[in-house]
Amino acid sequence: MSKDSVARTFIVAAVLCIVCAVVVSTAAVSLRPQQQINKELDLKSNILASAGLLQAGIPIDEQFEAVTVKVVDMQSGRFTDAVDSATYNQRKASKDPAQSVALSGDEDLAKIKRRANYATVYLIESDTGIDKVILPIKGYGLWSTMYGFIALESDLSTVAGIGFYEHAETPGLGGEIDNPKWKASWQGKSAYDSDGQLGLSVIKGRVDTERAGAEYQIDGLAGATLTTRGVDNLIRYWLGESGFAGFINHLKQGEA
Ligand SMILES: Cc1cc2nc3c(=O)[nH]c(=O)nc-3n(C[C@H](O)[C@H](O)[C@H](O)COP(=O)(O)O)c2cc1C
Repeated sequence: MSKDSVARTFIVAAVLCIVCAVVVSTAAVSLRPQQQINKELDLKSNILASAGLLQAGIPIDEQFEAVTVKVVDMQSGRFTDAVDSATYNQRKASKDPAQSVALSGDEDLAKIKRRANYATVYLIESDTGIDKVILPIKGYGLWSTMYGFIALESDLSTVAGIGFYEHAETPGLGGEIDNPKWKASWQGKSAYDSDGQLGLSVIKGRVDTERAGAEYQIDGLAGATLTTRGVDNLIRYWLGESGFAGFINHLKQGEA
């Protein structure tokens, strides 16, 4: 066969395609377990960071040993052993009608359509009890569902921190929910008042620190009113009655 023949060109192209396909698919399959490990490590580092506990230079898995992972029954607001906390996937469950409830109208403040029956929560405990509790949160912004965590201090009201690990809001606008300064402004704010009523809200504009109620308020993001409203909505949902309010009350009374 001549070197320049049509048949030879096709054979070379076909062999090249097969070799490349085998290389790419082998890489994809063999890297999948590592991708899964990296995904889990990323989630763990986001959980630690939301509570202000992430330290540079120490392996994430080692730091995560301080965290107790538990599952909460959202209906009863108490811990449950009905599913294994090590394998339970709340995000998957919230899409499965058998493992979630549909939210309608006014109840669906965060615009999430369904809420999983069980939620994974993270506790930092010490000899004296619970130091911090880290709760998963999610809700719709302008373009996307924003997934994150909010951490509360041992009084189960003071905010220890917040962080979002997945969203598609516009960088520089709604994407400012990742701004470390804005996230830091949540620390020390109060979620609930002395009667246990939810007070925490993200307002439009800047908080007037001289005015009463400033301890419950977070600055809105400039030029991103819709994302800001989304964050406010998801906080009202997840710290409210349909969210974790029942669980937080039980935890306060030591009856979770
Ligand atoms: C390309 C583009 C991207 C935008 N991204 C966001 C966003 O991520 N979050 C948001 O709230 N508003 C975003 N906006 C602005 C909204 O359309 C809307 O104008 C804004 O939320 C109003 O907020 P303001 O009253 O603070 O200006 C975007 C606008 C444009 C043109």
